[in-house]
Amino acid sequence: MKIIICKNYDEMSQTAAEIVAKQINSNPHTVLGLATGSTPVGMYKNLVKMNKEGKVDFSNVVTFNLDEYVGLDKDHPCSYHRFMDENLFNHINIKRENIHLPNGTAPSLEEECKTYEKMIAHAGGIDLQVLGIGHNGHIGFNEPGTPFHSLTHVVELAQRTIEANSRFFNSPDEVPRKAISMGIKTIMQARKILLLASGKDKAEIISKALHGPITTDVPASVLQLHPNVTVILDEDAASALDR
Ligand code: F6R
Repeated sequence: MKIIICKNYDEMSQTAAEIVAKQINSNPHTVLGLATGSTPVGMYKNLVKMNKEGKVDFSNVVTFNLDEYVGLDKDHPCSYHRFMDENLFNHINIKRENIHLPNGTAPSLEEECKTYEKMIAHAGGIDLQVLGIGHNGHIGFNEPGTPFHSLTHVVELAQRTIEANSRFFNSPDEVPRKAISMGIKTIMQARKILLLASGKDKAEIISKALHGPITTDVPASVLQLHPNVTVILDEDAASALDR
């Protein structure tokens, strides 16, 4: 595991964007796995800027997002589809047909999960997966207890996740209780992984995930078993690590 510690959120975002751009420049047909949430927003801003400056070209890039809420239409203001459009896709030269997120309003959610796995396989697998981390160690929406062999599946969100994500909704009651998420195995099959975290509130879980026991109680601890993980932290998120 390679751990890069940056001064602050901006430096973390810039460093992450450079790694993603380097990956795309070395393989223009890169299959990217993407995350939503607050953490990657700065990285996306940097990628948009680099795209506008001609430093990275998304015309042949294919993307798969980690997750989507069940029951939210893709145009719902709080859907992850909408989040990705607003933070990245609407501002770069990616082809619409190359963008993939699970469909949280599919008539059969089980079928949708299977189809999503097939689409990832058909694209050749994920070259670089970007991850954030939840306060309980979740990656994607794989909450504590999720088996390491899980593929894309329907998940019940943990109470803590509902509360954390309620900041994007009018009230916690509006946060969907379920989501479709890539599984832990899906994530672990990515050839490279980039885990981002910033802020003091992530320090404890980052320390557990990177240096604690590998256990389903801390889903992100599974990353210790992956051969190619880069972790980019700001000083605050790194503050509980033994350095
Ligand atoms: C988002 C996702 C989640 C977030 C995590 C951290 O697609 O899969 O695992 O990465 O909840 O969220 P933030 O960045 O908002 O702290």
